[in-house]
Order: sequence, then C-alpha cells, then structure tokens
Amino acid sequence: MANYADFQLGIYLAGLGGEKPAFPVSFKEVEAAAHAVMESELLDYVAGGAGDERTQSANVAAFHRWGLVPRMLAGAAERDLSVDLFGLRLPTPIFMSPIGVLGVMTEDQHGDLAAARAAAETGVPFVGSTLMQDPLEDVAGALGDTPGFFQLYSPSNRELSESLVHRAEAAGYRAIVVTLDTWTLGWRPRDLAHASMPQLQGKCLANYASDPVFRSLLEKSPEEDPGAVVGTWATLFGDPTLSWQDLAWLRGLTDLPLVLKGICHPDDVRRAKDAGVDGIYCSNHGGRQAGSAPALEFLPAVVEAAQDTPVLFDSGVRSGIDVVTALALGATAVGIGRPYGYGAVLGGTEGIVHVLRCLLAEADLTMGLNGYATIAELTPDALVPVR
Ligand code: FNR
Repeated sequence: MANYADFQLGIYLAGLGGEKPAFPVSFKEVEAAAHAVMESELLDYVAGGAGDERTQSANVAAFHRWGLVPRMLAGAAERDLSVDLFGLRLPTPIFMSPIGVLGVMTEDQHGDLAAARAAAETGVPFVGSTLMQDPLEDVAGALGDTPGFFQLYSPSNRELSESLVHRAEAAGYRAIVVTLDTWTLGWRPRDLAHASMPQLQGKCLANYASDPVFRSLLEKSPEEDPGAVVGTWATLFGDPTLSWQDLAWLRGLTDLPLVLKGICHPDDVRRAKDAGVDGIYCSNHGGRQAGSAPALEFLPAVVEAAQDTPVLFDSGVRSGIDVVTALALGATAVGIGRPYGYGAVLGGTEGIVHVLRCLLAEADLTMGLNGYATIAELTPDALVPVR
C-alpha cells in the first residue's frame, strides 16, 4: 500500500543535502509562480471565470466552513486511500479533471500528453477533455497502466459525438464523462476583454481535426485550411437542444461507464440514474460557466440521491484537507482542476506529479494525524461546521 505521506520525508531528506523542492509546495505559491510566467490571455482564460468570479471564490471558501474532528490513539499509522470506481481499484481517491486548454499550458505545447504521463507515474486517473492539443489516441498511449476517462462535449452534430465516443472506446479509455453545463460558453469578462479564447485561435482542436466525421464536413483538409477547422468547430461545439430524452441515445453509444458532469440537484441525479448512468459528477465547472452556489453545498444532497451510484466531485479543491473534506461529505473520488494545470505550466509532467504528490501527502497526513485510517471512516460525522 502506498504511503503518500513519505513524500514529505523525501523532501526533508533531500534538504539535508541542500536540495530544495523543485516547485513550490502550497497552492498559493504554485498559482503565483504559474501566473508569473503565463502570457496574459492564457492566464486569464485559466484563472478567470463567470461574471464577477464570486462563484469560483465561493467554491474555495466553502471548504473552509468544514473542519475534521481529530480522534486520538485511533490506529491510523497505516492508511488506505484506495477507492473502487467503475470496477477499477484506484490507488488514490483523486483524479485530474478535464482541462480543455491543458494542451497549451506546457512549454512544449503537449500538455495532455504531460498529464497522461503524470497519470502513469502517480496512478491518478486523467480525464482528458474533448479539447485536446494531441489526438485522444496519442494521449491514451501515454497513460501506462493508469485508467484514463474521456470527457465529451457533445457537439450539435450527433454523428460526431458518436465518432468521438467510439474512438475513445477503441483507444482504451475506461469511462465517458459527458459535460452538460457547457452547451454554450459562459459570460467571462476576462476573455471578453481580450476578445479572444484559445480555441478560436485554432488551439486544442486536435480531436476534431483528426476525426473522420469532422473532416468529412470540411471542403479542404485541416492541413490545407486550418481556418475552416475553427469555423466549423465554432458552429457545432455545443448542443443547446440536448435534453433528458437524449440520454437513451447517449447511453446506447457505449458499454463503457457513462458519467454526467455538472449535476448539482438531487432530482437531476434521480433522472440520470433512471437513464442508466454509472456515475454522477457534481461540479459547477470551477465557477467558469455560470454563477451558482458553491459546488460543495450541493454535494451532500447529490450523494444522498445517488445512493449506490458513485459521485465524482470537483470545484474549489486546493489542498489535501479539501480532498478529505469532500470524501467525508460522500464523494467517491475528488477532481483536481486548476492546481494540476498550474503544475503543468511550471514543469510539465514533473510539475503535475509534484502537485499531485503534495495533495496526496497532505490528504494522507490529514487523515492519519486526525485518526482516520480508511476512506470508509470518513463520514459526515467526521466533520463539524466551522462557524
Ligand atoms: C476547465 N473545466 C473543464 N471541464 C470540462 O468538462 N471540460 C473542459 O474542457 C474543461 N476545461 C477547463 C479549462 C480550464 C482552464 C479550467 C480551469 C477548467 C472544468 C474542470 O473540469 C473542473 O470542473 C474545474 O476546473 C474545477 O474547478 P477548480 O477546482 O479548478 O476551481
């Protein structure tokens, strides 16, 4: 069983030889270091969000309203942070959330490959976005033995959806995550001020340009006419007509576990379960799409309605304590978003691995020192509201 807390021992031991960690340790410093080197349009695209950004701030603040109850002499010197998800035994309870601009966040402009390699190295699953800079098949090839999940932005062209899902299946992804909250783009003042977004500059569209259905819509090949890729993509990116009635179609596309991302209301959980989905992904897209209450507020009711169906959660997770808090509120697995993206900016695969190891070490130590040896012991009773 992996002891994630040992990561800190390694840092102290290296320190005896005068070595400092290659990257900052706290999220605040990782974020500041990444912001310092990002060009302004990319920085604003990643750091920014919907409206006045109150929702993304509230996502983070919501975690501070919960505290773990310490239990002593509880026999938690050895911890087990592994979880079961879709029949997979995963060594850690965290995963990398889809980041549609990850491809251009690393120096070499192959950020999706960097994340896949970080997944291979850490055992932390990577949810690859539809918006990749390298084709999903290449990214799958870099995952090693770690499962990858494919996130689908269902385009208005249904044949293209089908093609993407079938490609993901053939490439070996282990689940399809359909994001429901982005059928059109949210109001993002920072991107509006630049009057630009990465995809409109032709970035991170490799899964479209490499798709036979998408290519059949173009008059010339993407290589001959890259502008047409952007124009065609813009007309079919989102499907505002997608409804609960279409879930039977989505369900019928694949035998892989199907997960719906963006579910925050218990009635929507029940509808999703009725439609035969395998996982609920509670998230408000990190406050990037539309202002709402903090995602963490929705989690307990979503978990209750989900019953035996696994619940993935993200939005606002910044520390190992946050990971443990979300688990105690009933999440089966916890998604990391911006933090690993900043790791990618700072050091590609190595930067991502560093951020993930810091989160895991802190989560592990938080559990151990507070007397919780297993994730099963992390129930809502392990938490108190902080006034
Ligand atoms: C995202 N997110 C996202 N979600 C998704 O389903 N598909 C995508 O392509 C993207 N792209 C994307 C780009 C960027 C720059 C960010 C920051 C986020 C949302 C992501 O999966 C996750 O829900 C949020 O990142 C969680 O919020 P925090 O923890 O990053 O604040």
